[in-house]
Amino acid sequence: MAIMTGVDTKASDHEPYESLIGLKAPTGTIKPSNLCHFVLRTKPENYQKMVKWYIDFTGGFATHVAKSITFIAYDEEHHRIGIAPREDAIPRPADGSPVVGLGHAAFGYKSLSELADSYEQKKKMGIRPVWVVNHGPTTSMYYVDPDGNMVETQVDNFDTVEETVAFMGKEEFHKNPMGADFHPEEFVKRVRSGEDDRAIKKRPDVGPRTRKEDFPPQTYLATC
Ligand SMILES: [Fe+2]
Repeated sequence: MAIMTGVDTKASDHEPYESLIGLKAPTGTIKPSNLCHFVLRTKPENYQKMVKWYIDFTGGFATHVAKSITFIAYDEEHHRIGIAPREDAIPRPADGSPVVGLGHAAFGYKSLSELADSYEQKKKMGIRPVWVVNHGPTTSMYYVDPDGNMVETQVDNFDTVEETVAFMGKEEFHKNPMGADFHPEEFVKRVRSGEDDRAIKKRPDVGPRTRKEDFPPQTYLATC
C-alpha cells in the first residue's frame, strides 16, 4: 500500500501503521466462502422493535422465531441476521461513546437506482439515514437501528474490485478516507434525471478529511 507524503496535519490520525502494511495470511490458509450472518443482542423490551426494524430494513422475513432468538432472511441464505434478547445484556452508553466490537455492517445494492429506491422506501417507513457520503469506493447511506447499531447501505462506485483497490491505494484516499457528504434528496433527483451513473459515483474533491465530524453537522438530515 502506498505511503502518504505531504499529508495535512488534519489527517494525522490516518497515518500509515507501518507494522500492519502488507500483512497477509500464509499461502494456502483456508478461506471462508461466504460472510453468512451477524447476530445482535438486544434488551427484551426492544426485541420486537429490533426484529421489525431489520425485516423492514432488508425487505426480509423471519425464518425462525422464538423467545430466545429470531432469524431473518432476505436472499438465498437461510438467515443473514439474528436478533437475540438478553435480560443481562449491557446497553450502549447513553452518551454515544463507542463500544468495543462491531462498528457497523454494510448491505450492498446493485445500482444507484436501487439505492435511491431503497432510500425512499425506508423514508416512507420512517427509517432515515444519519450520514450520507460518497466514500470514493462506495456511495453510502448510514442508518442507526433502534438499539443504536449502525448499518450502511452501499453501491460500489467502480466496476471491478481491482479498480476499487487501486483507488484505495491512492494518496487521494489516504488524505480523505471518509469521503464527500451529499444530500440524499439531491442524489435521488440526479439518479432519476438520467445523469450518467459514473458522474454521480465520482467522488468530488473536498480536500483532506479523516473524520465524519470534519464537516459541519448535516442539518439536511432533519428534512430528508
Ligand atoms: Fe462501511
